[in-house]
Amino acid sequence: MRRTRSGPSIRQFLKHYLLVLLAEKGHTRAQMVEQIKQRSGGNRDFRASGMLWPAGAEINTVLASLAADGLVTPPKRGHRWRITDSGRRALAAQAEGEEGTNGKERAAEKLIELLGPGSADTHVLDVGTGQGFLALKLAERGFRVTGIDSACFEYSKDSLDKAREQAGEQAGHVEFRQADVREFDESEGGLDYVVSSQAVHCMADQSGCVKAIHRLLKPGGRFVCIDYLVGPLGFLRHGFHCFLAMSREEWVEVLLEHGFTDVRMYELEDFLVVECQKP
Ligand SMILES: C[S@@+](CC[C@H](N)C(=O)[O-])C[C@H]1O[C@@H](n2cnc3c(N)ncnc32)[C@H](O)[C@@H]1O
Repeated sequence: MRRTRSGPSIRQFLKHYLLVLLAEKGHTRAQMVEQIKQRSGGNRDFRASGMLWPAGAEINTVLASLAADGLVTPPKRGHRWRITDSGRRALAAQAEGEEGTNGKERAAEKLIELLGPGSADTHVLDVGTGQGFLALKLAERGFRVTGIDSACFEYSKDSLDKAREQAGEQAGHVEFRQADVREFDESEGGLDYVVSSQAVHCMADQSGCVKAIHRLLKPGGRFVCIDYLVGPLGFLRHGFHCFLAMSREEWVEVLLEHGFTDVRMYELEDFLVVECQKP
């Protein structure tokens, strides 16, 4: 069943997004809803199991709060909402936040810090490894790493070959396999860590993948994941694509549902690092 999305992160995202829409031109509420549906439509293939657009009630709440802050004006004649000068200034101020450092690299540094010192006895699985962005960094730090990728997109068909090429001197510590995490059963229940970078947002069955990750970890093992932040900075840098990622609230819901505990999150600019444990 498709669900509309709601919660504080979705509202944060909408606060920015509705200003972006109204900065283009005045819109009725119905036109805004239609724009959101259309622009999120391109994401549907990547997020088959989850509704892409926010609940109508959230749109009302956000419009009311933007109006209360003087950033938009409610419809008078013609039923169109409009952005105010303060709204344009707020949007410009948010855009300044775009000039940051590399959020993904900063998130990877945080993930490495959370894993602690590397050891060849510590087995890490990198899910959706692509060209080995995380797997290679972790192998360099001395972990034993397996990188898997389902190669489910045109762009990811030759990623694993590129990862193997890059492995070079790390080759003893890292191996790459083509596999969908939901069907991967090697090392089941024996992994110390499962990690993932910028991949869960494009998994068609996000809940099924989180369930599989839980199954693969040993008791006490941890899942540490980097993905887009659903919020203004995620939107500024990645547009509607960031909306494919799970919001902070959705992460908590899915992780607890599949038996994880001790959920912690860290925001690094446009990326979110999520850490949790299998009891
Ligand atoms: C955007 S790439 C990220 C690659 C790399 N981790 C990085 O940070 O650059 C996401 C990858 O996830 C892979 N993927 C998607 N669904 C998957 C699944 N169910 N199991 C394993 N890999 C999957 C895709 O094939 C793609 O290569």
